Amino acid sequence: MSGSLVLDDVGRRYADRWAVRHVSAALQPGQVTGFLGPNGAGKTTTMKLVAGLLVPTEGTVHISGVDVAQDPEAAKARLAYVPDRPYVPERLTARELLHYVAGLFGLSGEVVRTRGLDELARFGLAGREDDLLRTYSHGMRQRALLAASFMRQPELLLIDEPMVGLDPEGRRLIKRMLRRAAEEQGACVLMSTHTLDVVDELCDRVLVMNHGRLLADGTAADLRALVNTERPADVTLEDVFFALTEAAAD
Ligand SMILES: Nc1ncnc2c1ncn2[C@@H]1O[C@H](COP(=O)(O)OP(=O)(O)OP(=O)(O)O)[C@@H](O)[C@H]1O
Ligand SMILES: [Mg+2]
Repeated sequence: MSGSLVLDDVGRRYADRWAVRHVSAALQPGQVTGFLGPNGAGKTTTMKLVAGLLVPTEGTVHISGVDVAQDPEAAKARLAYVPDRPYVPERLTARELLHYVAGLFGLSGEVVRTRGLDELARFGLAGREDDLLRTYSHGMRQRALLAASFMRQPELLLIDEPMVGLDPEGRRLIKRMLRRAAEEQGACVLMSTHTLDVVDELCDRVLVMNHGRLLADGTAADLRALVNTERPADVTLEDVFFALTEAAAD
């Protein structure tokens, strides 16, 4: 299933402070977009606005043409959001989690038995389906939630800092799975992260945010060329990150 994401002049204010302002971007199906920015830049706020968990103070968000504020149910049916601190219902097993998520989104038990368990296995949890999530490690919880998200085959996959606390194998697995969602299912994937090498390796496109504003939007090569037009290959993504975010602080 392919999906698009369009943000049009989106802003969100907390009391008298704007956390996000004047954000416009159009993300394509079949692409993985990395979302970069220092702590407090506004990444999580933006993702929650897209996920329909926060209401924009101004502007609109469309997911595959559906206005999130106008039709939140239809929008939420098309997206999966994996938050930075993955909450799992600890009293459920992974298999029960799949049934619970399927039930929330009107999917049949058959989908759990076929796609759901298959996704758990792809995320390295074969044999652990009937263990309580309470007994899962951080990385295993994250993978169980991702498997539940993938089971739904969302058009838009929002994932907030998926690499935190994962071992090298866990990171590699997530990179592969995000590529697969984009390439095989045509999903639009937006991933926030502080791990710049992952962005370089995985992402088709990069958004850089600071102080609630979008500072750059393009391929990693485009961003390198912003910093050094003559010899972009000499520039690391870290150079780009600091050049953009330090300039904005002035
Ligand atoms: N519930 C809230 N009430 C008030 N201010 C908030 C709230 N949530 C976030 N903010 C503010 O909004 C701004 C953006 O925060 P946000 O969590 O979106 O940043 P982030 O880019 O995700 O940062 P990090 O990399 O640390 O996760 C910050 O100034 C933060 O203090
Ligand atoms: Mg955040």
